[in-house]
Amino acid sequence: MQLFLDTANIDHIRHGVELGVVTGVTTNPSLVSREGKVIYRDLVREICSIVPGPVSTEVLGQDASQMVVEAREIAKWAENIVVKIPASLEGVKATSVLTKENIKVNFTLCFSLNQAVLAAAAGATFISPFVGRLDDIGEDGMRVVIDIVQFLSYYRLPTQVIAASIRHTQHCVMAAKAGAHIATIPYRVLLQMIQHPLTDTGIRRFTDDWRKVMGDEGIVEAFTIPKDDQGNSSR
Ligand code: G3P
Repeated sequence: MQLFLDTANIDHIRHGVELGVVTGVTTNPSLVSREGKVIYRDLVREICSIVPGPVSTEVLGQDASQMVVEAREIAKWAENIVVKIPASLEGVKATSVLTKENIKVNFTLCFSLNQAVLAAAAGATFISPFVGRLDDIGEDGMRVVIDIVQFLSYYRLPTQVIAASIRHTQHCVMAAKAGAHIATIPYRVLLQMIQHPLTDTGIRRFTDDWRKVMGDEGIVEAFTIPKDDQGNSSR
């Protein structure tokens, strides 16, 4: 499962990419507006220059013709742009037009298998089922991810599933088990994924055991290349 960051925050994106584990980014109008009153195109272009893979950027229009106009413009902003189109009937129409023009679409705000079936038929590159928002209303968000993954694999369709609206690390575990191609996660969740108390105590115990015998300088000395009497390094 690939990891995308679900944010428009440049510092967070830089850090995720530096870690070598973040291969894409998803944004939406709410996430972009959290960064203040920015110039949309400039911010997205900066994100695209940092991230090695796809950067999803959402249209604001609600009818198909407006979505298509905006998507064509967004598609010019960078090579690695993917246009996010909402899962409405107008969105299906826009997706069909855009995919024929080889513009990559991330079919977003997806809450059901039926919406995903339409997205795949329209040629979407990605489908984003929103797990957390379904959980919020008492439904099983991950069930929708499982069903979409199964459907795409059964019919050998190329569309990829981005498990979105991820709220916590258990969602990451479940998305990986469900076979989601990608999970797009908030920066906070990325940082939490590595945490385990047994890792922390394990690191502390290894260091303490070593120090007890080798002394405080022991770790530095362990990696010092010994020199012979003439001062030449032995390796
Ligand atoms: O990728 C979709 C995501 O941004 C929505 O997350 O937490 O607002 O439901 P959330």
